[in-house]
Amino acid sequence: MELLPNLPLLLLLLLHSPSNAADHPPKATCMFDAIYQLGDSISDTGNLIRENPATPFSRFPYGESFFNNPTGRCSNGLLIIDQFAIAAGLPLINPYLDKDAPMTHGVNFAVAGSTPLPSEVLAQKRISSRVTNSSLSKQLDWMSTHFNITCLFKENDCTKKLKNALFFVGEIGGNDYNYALFQGKTIEEVRNMVPEVVQIIKEAVERVINYGAFQVIVPGNFPIGCLPIFLAGFQTDDATAYDELHCLKDLNNLAIYHNTHLNDAIKSFRKENPNVNIVYGDYYNALLWVLREASSLGFDETSLHKPCCGMDGDYEFNLMQMCGAPGVPVCGNPGERISWDGFHLTQNAYRLVTYWLILNILPRLYCIP
Ligand SMILES: *[C@@H]1O[C@H](CO)[C@@H](O)[C@H](O)[C@H]1NC(C)=O
Ligand SMILES: *[C@@H]1O[C@H](CO)[C@@H](O)[C@H](O)[C@H]1NC(C)=O
Repeated sequence: MELLPNLPLLLLLLLHSPSNAADHPPKATCMFDAIYQLGDSISDTGNLIRENPATPFSRFPYGESFFNNPTGRCSNGLLIIDQFAIAAGLPLINPYLDKDAPMTHGVNFAVAGSTPLPSEVLAQKRISSRVTNSSLSKQLDWMSTHFNITCLFKENDCTKKLKNALFFVGEIGGNDYNYALFQGKTIEEVRNMVPEVVQIIKEAVERVINYGAFQVIVPGNFPIGCLPIFLAGFQTDDATAYDELHCLKDLNNLAIYHNTHLNDAIKSFRKENPNVNIVYGDYYNALLWVLREASSLGFDETSLHKPCCGMDGDYEFNLMQMCGAPGVPVCGNPGERISWDGFHLTQNAYRLVTYWLILNILPRLYCIP
């Protein structure tokens, strides 16, 4: 049952009804021509599986609810970036490493497992990043190469195109903390990494603006203390460790700490760059809204903290038996689950997160007539 209007319709409606319609003639178009994405598994639509075809994300049940083939998306179906593309009236944005795919309406550079901190820097802190070496700076190099090639002979077209494009720098940074936490670092040690991680995200926004970006969304981290992977990994008998949604307070506070630093960086950035529009993407509160309103949104209240795909223990999550491994069961009603595999959300949860985000972000975007 659909309790909310279809997202695409909603965004189109909002885009076509400026709040002060009396002062301005209705804008003919308020559409984005392209979306460019940097990030990690929250937004990867097929880069990691081209770097490493052996990853579980290349196998069913990943993609089971929307695509005929697993596409490399870390969900049963569409991600936030896909829902944004649909809402903007664009085709789905193709992954950079799919060399045969059209890139007319943007490129997705996100790689599952990616980090702002390069692998060597993580290694100095004795943190290994085993999934990919395509950190944020590698993705920015890909972006630079892409624009150098596509803009070489038609510079004016390019400037116009980028003015009409939406850039997402993130979500990214979650993995630096995840790797550290699951490799035995204390929350205090991980908090100390935050300024360094945020600084690299800030430099990424600077580079993107140097390439010609005009509107940039910089998403923060999710309330990670609510995700089954952390609930299982940091399970405790101490009832005071949990909040009213049964999320781990310390881990949510870590995400808040990151998001606060990110917001401070965005604020100082806006002062330095008054000619570009930089908007915070509040993934934290978007997911909290879904969790709080879960039952009225049609989710199964008894399994808010249990993934659709996973097994073992109170949270049906086991790091050694993750989704995509042989014998790991998949629920029959993914539309009623928030968590897909313990770490990533289901298509339905991402749809609702995007719904919240669009309502929150849209008033702060410039619509270009
Ligand atoms: C990352 O790079 C290091 C050093 O070149 C290499 O040993 C490692 O296998 C790479 N990891 C991945 C996942 O590609
Ligand atoms: C793109 O072109 C600029 C300007 O010529 C150059 O500085 C930069 O290194 C190029 N980027 C790549 C990845 O080749």
